[in-house]
Amino acid sequence: MRIIAFNGSPRKKWNTATLLEKALEGAASRGAKTELIHLYDLNFKGCISCFACKTKGGKSYGRCAVKDDLTPVFRKIEKADAIILGSPIYFGTVSGEMKSFMERLLFPYLTYTDPPQSLFPRKIKTGFIYTMNTTEEQMTERGYVQHFKSHEMTLLHCQLNY
Ligand SMILES: Cc1cc2nc3c(=O)[nH]c(=O)nc-3n(C[C@H](O)[C@H](O)[C@H](O)COP(=O)(O)O)c2cc1C
Repeated sequence: MRIIAFNGSPRKKWNTATLLEKALEGAASRGAKTELIHLYDLNFKGCISCFACKTKGGKSYGRCAVKDDLTPVFRKIEKADAIILGSPIYFGTVSGEMKSFMERLLFPYLTYTDPPQSLFPRKIKTGFIYTMNTTEEQMTERGYVQHFKSHEMTLLHCQLNY
């Protein structure tokens, strides 16, 4: 089993990275091959809305057409059995880097249908670790839970949350 974790914090040794490392340690102890990728080490931007991934019959249908450091990462994800996304909460939602990563990873796999179908080649599991500086009550009061549910729903539509 191959599991890849993505750290959406600029800090490589603090809260988010520590929890991701612990999750991977647990998986490795059960025989999984693991990898931790720090998004801040990669050179990429968010979705540029070129819609090449939505052009049926085009060479990039269902795939991000932008070529940068994320290109090999997406190919790795297509071969993984599970991924774990980890992000600090910045101003009520995930970090900018994690948001950009999610746009690039997820948008190409969603068809423009109602309900959306997934073009992701397989069904894999996803975990999401959020770290923040709030109590559980504040998390609900401030609407963070809505963000988490929305991410869960998007991942589900992409078949990345089975
Ligand atoms: C720019 C910035 C914005 C933040 N905004 C929030 C926030 O809105 N809510 C919150 O609970 N914590 C917020 N925090 C705190 C971080 O989410 C928290 O310390 C997190 O665990 C840091 O993760 P890291 O150690 O992996 O970098 C913010 C921190 C920074 C640097």
